[in-house]
Amino acid sequence: MPTLNIVILAAGLGKRMHSTLPKVLHPLAGRSLLSHVLDTARALAPEKICVVYGHGGEIVPQTIDDGKLVWVKQELQLGTGHALMQTLPHLDKSGMTLVLFGDVPLTRVETLRELIAAAAAKYLALLTLELDEPHGYGRIVRSSEGEITAIVEQKDASETQRQIREINTGIMAVPNQYLHDWLHQLKNNNAQKEYYLTDIVAMAVKDGVKVEATQPGNAWETLGINSKVQLAALERIYQNESAHRLLEQGVTLADPSRIDIRGQLACGSDVTIDVNCIFEGLVQLDDNVKVGAHSILKNVKIAAGTVIAPFSLIEDAEIGKNCRIGPYARIRPGTRLASEVHIGNFVEVKNSSIAASSKANHLSYIGDAVIGKNVNIGAGTITCNYDGANKYQTIIEDDVFIGSDTQLIAPVKVAKGATIGAGSTITRDTPPEKLTLSRAKQISIAGWKRPIKKVKYEK
Ligand code: UD1
Ligand code: MG
Repeated sequence: MPTLNIVILAAGLGKRMHSTLPKVLHPLAGRSLLSHVLDTARALAPEKICVVYGHGGEIVPQTIDDGKLVWVKQELQLGTGHALMQTLPHLDKSGMTLVLFGDVPLTRVETLRELIAAAAAKYLALLTLELDEPHGYGRIVRSSEGEITAIVEQKDASETQRQIREINTGIMAVPNQYLHDWLHQLKNNNAQKEYYLTDIVAMAVKDGVKVEATQPGNAWETLGINSKVQLAALERIYQNESAHRLLEQGVTLADPSRIDIRGQLACGSDVTIDVNCIFEGLVQLDDNVKVGAHSILKNVKIAAGTVIAPFSLIEDAEIGKNCRIGPYARIRPGTRLASEVHIGNFVEVKNSSIAASSKANHLSYIGDAVIGKNVNIGAGTITCNYDGANKYQTIIEDDVFIGSDTQLIAPVKVAKGATIGAGSTITRDTPPEKLTLSRAKQISIAGWKRPIKKVKYEK
């Protein structure tokens, strides 16, 4: 493999985004446009990656830097050729440079591999595309023999050239041995007074360097983002592609147009996902998992056979086999549920582990708790884990039954097999196998009358 350098041009202002955030930091599928391009670039294992960023764009390196990228500032945006020129001191003398755009996020790695193979460090290779509506793009000019002779920009093109439907996507692979020389020859005597990178095509032809073209498998791979309208459209394309990949793997989606994947979703066999679910970060759903409508799962692993009922929110958690979660469950970071655990409606669990076959079916808060197996947590039970300054642990051992509306004032331990009477406030550790309750004795007051409404006298 010849040495590969990658340059990502990202100095554009993105005025049409109407935002103070630089364009390449706007998110698509939960990650910035530039992160998508960087992931693709890294997958090609280049020698180095240079990112050209613009005036006022310091937030771009501040947000994205991984310590390995070469950041090059282009103070004034004088064109794509000028942008690439800024990176010349960092580029190798041999091998090739692949030019990508920071606002073209969805180019597939295979498409770029083909382009790189076509360049083979000797030829100039362009990624081109036939469009029915080529307006605005640079056009690929070919000789009568079909050889590429130049790229002409829309604003500089003649009427005949504007009829050409083959366009320049902007992505190209350039042999480094010529790049330095060609960039130094660029002039800005054109309609936009810019240094066009595309002018190197005519230079290559003049120098007898072969110009090759390859095409992406899908037109969306080369779509760029200039506005929120285009961002929203590309987001839908991305989500649609992700959904179809899942369907092809055998995942059942109630509606492939109503799922959002903002990260990576790995599914086992016979997984079913109902409408309007959002998956963020790394999510793993094992065999036969069912996710109910309107659920949000972020960085979670869900073992086989578990059912997530609708409107559940699960984040940074591990859920065991054959559990039943929700509807309306909230599972927060640091939660680990063993198999066959039931977490029902309006139950919040945070930083807690719950062993096999335990249940908290209604209206509870379980925070900083270690719960054994076969435990039943009655409706309305609260672990009072916070005294206003510090957090404390609640331990509930195996086979415990906690009556409804119990407050467990942590730190506290409920020993194995204990029963807590409903409505108790438990402030001290409770013994195993016994019934403990802290309720006041029930009394009925003789002669008590309900107050009656006072009659108001009119003035
Ligand atoms: C460019 C191509 C055109 C192609 C089109 C595809 C040139 C001269 N023209 O045109 O043939 O059809 O892309 O979308 O290359 N950038 C900088 N610094 C600059 C100028 C641009 O970093 O001084 C970056 C932008 O942030 C963007 C990319 O380069 O990521 C392309 O710039 P843009 O202005 O969109 O190029 P076009 O005029 O659309
Ligand atoms: Mg432009």
